[in-house]
Order: sequence, then structure tokens, then C-alpha cells
Amino acid sequence: MWCVVVVCVALAAAASSVTAEAGPQVWRVEAPGHHIVLRSLENEGLVDVLGSVTSHSKVLVERSAKERVSRALSEAQVEHKVEVEDVLPLIEQERQHIRHKRSTRFTQNVAQPMDWTSFHDLDDIEGFIGWLNATGGPFVQVANAATTQEGHKVLVVRITDPNSPGPKKKVWIEGGIHAREWISPAVTSYIMYQLVTNPAWQELLQVADWYMVPVANPDGYEFSFSSPRARMWRKNRRNNGNSGQCRGVDLNRNWDFKWGVGASNNPCSETYMGPLAFSEPETRGLQFLMSSVRDIDLFITFHSFGQTILYPWGWTRTAPANSRQLKRLAKKFADTVREVSGGSTDYEIGGSGPLYGLASGATDDWTYGVLGVPYSYTIELPDQGTYGFLLPENRVSSTVMETAAGVHCMVGFLANAGQCARRRARNPHNRIFG
Ligand code: ARG
Ligand code: ZN
Repeated sequence: MWCVVVVCVALAAAASSVTAEAGPQVWRVEAPGHHIVLRSLENEGLVDVLGSVTSHSKVLVERSAKERVSRALSEAQVEHKVEVEDVLPLIEQERQHIRHKRSTRFTQNVAQPMDWTSFHDLDDIEGFIGWLNATGGPFVQVANAATTQEGHKVLVVRITDPNSPGPKKKVWIEGGIHAREWISPAVTSYIMYQLVTNPAWQELLQVADWYMVPVANPDGYEFSFSSPRARMWRKNRRNNGNSGQCRGVDLNRNWDFKWGVGASNNPCSETYMGPLAFSEPETRGLQFLMSSVRDIDLFITFHSFGQTILYPWGWTRTAPANSRQLKRLAKKFADTVREVSGGSTDYEIGGSGPLYGLASGATDDWTYGVLGVPYSYTIELPDQGTYGFLLPENRVSSTVMETAAGVHCMVGFLANAGQCARRRARNPHNRIFG
């Protein structure tokens, strides 16, 4: 009998993506005062904060929560308005486009599946890592940091030049810790590709060892490709034991430093911190590898969206000891991106606590506070919220190129090597294949 009910529910869910059953809405919530009330609504699992800039936040609101959220915001005298009536049709559009791309791509005989003109699922990224490993020879080593609940590997790719003696900086780049931020694995994998194939990046291999994690949250990433309803998934896919009702832990709230600050202990919340710090195989495995690498000089985790480069702390508004240096290196990134994008991509620089409100148990605070990594950043990639996670695919190539140029400049500056790019971005095909 129970099985029959489950089947009915599953069928109803499948039908809803075909028929016009309304999905969640996107609301724009204005500053000031929005951080505090949104944090408490988020902890209750009533809203999902998609992203913030100084002036406002964008949040996802399920139909069933509309009245309660509106009332709470009005009581706190925080201005808000519905910006997208229903997000599902937008997601459907994006899926059509991806399906079309995939079928054309498979008719061509490509050596590796990534093109950085579209978004790629986990299969493609794993295929790319296999290709990189085979192509890169002694420059590329792949390690498995963890095996997830759903049996995926959290892969860490070490890219080094075995022929140059050093001393070298150590750079650790994390992508895809939040499932729906698809531009993050795209950027991370593009930097990997540059390191192995682009002569202009070879000088950085002589001065730095690179540790790259293209998809820190493979279960969540794969899930976000599985259906329109799943597209906005953020967490991993942990079964929280509440009859499968509310799944997932926010992996960027699960690190063992100021665990619980600005996070939720409600498994239904998008910022659920997990039952314990490092309860998740992904965070536990990554911290173990990061600790064993030792003396990392620069840590970057790519998120979206907002166009901000954030430095610690997230758990307090107090500026960290080396904030001047942190700001200086962040400015290298922001200036390069502005230059390369021909002035169209502007980044804001700031401490993540002061800019976004207090939140921790995050990778950046942990690497800075526990590992002692002197330069630790969260980069919130484009855009500034017009499309948010549903960044149009025609922005993928320009975004990966300008971001890679920014990272190139940061590492060159840190290691006293290399020039910061002063060129406008071109179509990646010109550079890669042309
Ligand atoms: N959007 C990111 C998140 O919510 C920002 C993290 C910034 N770092 C921090 N320690 N709060 O996870
Ligand atoms: Zn994120």
C-alpha cells in the first residue's frame, strides 16, 4: 500500500514538471536590515537566500511560504517585491538549451568533453579529469579526497611541473561546494585546462603547485542537473533520517571552525550545518588532504553569484590581522578582471562578515583560522543577480577567461612572476584551438 502511495507521489511530481504547476518565486529584498530577518527565515527553512549585494538580496520563496515570509519582512520593515513570478519556466529554458548543445557535441568527435561555452554535468567533468590525467603525464596527479554518500569521488587534481626545482607557492582552489553554482566548476576546470595546455600559464607552474577541486559536492551537483525542481539545490544529498523529507547538509557550514555561526540546525534549511562539524565525507576528506599538503599560501573557493571577492572573517565583523595584504591581492584580481572584461565586470572587495552578515563553518574561515593560510578568499562569480545561478551560457566563456586572468595575476604577484593580463578577452576557441 505504502509503495502505491509513493508511486503516486512520484508520478504527480513528474507530471508537475510537464504541466504548469507553479514553482517557487524569486523575491528582491532591500537593505538595510535584510540580513538579520532573512537569516532567521532561512534558519526556519522558509526562504533560500540565493545571493546578496550591498543594496539587496535575492531569495527563493516557495508558494506555501509566501504569506509567512511577506508578513515577517513587513513586520521588520524590510522592503521586498516579487521579481520572478515562477522560476520553473526559466529553468526549463536553460534545460532546452543544454539538451541541444549536448546532442550537437556528441555528433562531433571531440577529444575531451568540456568546451567552456556551456555548462557540463558531472560525467563530462570526470571525463575531462581523465583526459587531463592522460594528457598531462607527470604534471598531473589525481587523488580521491572522499567517497560521498551516493558513491561519487571528490577528486583533487594536483598540477605541478616536476622539472622546476622551486621553491614554490602552494595554491588550493575549490569549486562546486554549492550544487547550483554551475559557473564555479566551469571556472575551476578552465584554470586546470590552462595550466596544462596554455604556454602562457607554464611560468606559473614553475613558481606554484596547484591543487584543484573542480566539484567539492558531486552528489549535489549531479542532482541539480536531474530535474527543473532540483536545479536550485545547494547542499549535498545526505539523508538526514527524517524519512527522507529534508535532505542535505550545507557543506560550506560544516567545517570545524566557528561551526554553527550563522548556520541552521534545521535539516530543512538550505544552510543546515549538519549534526556535527565535519560530519560529511566531503568536508572531512578535503580537510584531511589540505592539512597534509601543509603551508598552503593561497586558497580560493569559487561560488556564485554577486561579483564580490571576500576575505575573512565570515564569523565576525572584526578585520583579520593581515587585512591590508588580503585587500591588496584581492585588488589585483578585481583590476585584472575589469581590464580583461573591457570594464564590464566589476568586483566589490570586502570582508565576508561585514558584507554578507555573519556566517561560518565555511572553508575560507577554516583555512585561514585553522590551517593558517595567509591568503584565503571566497570569490562570488558573476553576475550581480540579474540571472543569478541561471547565468546564460553565452556568458560562460567570457566569465571563465576573465576569472582565470584574475587568478593568473594573483599567483604571479604572490610569486613575483608573470605579468598581469592587459588584454580584452576573446572567444576561447581562438585561444584554445585556433
Ligand atoms: N555565499 C557564501 C556562503 O554563504 C559566502 C561564504 C563567505 N564566507 C563566510 N565564511 N561566510 O557560503
Ligand atoms: Zn555558494
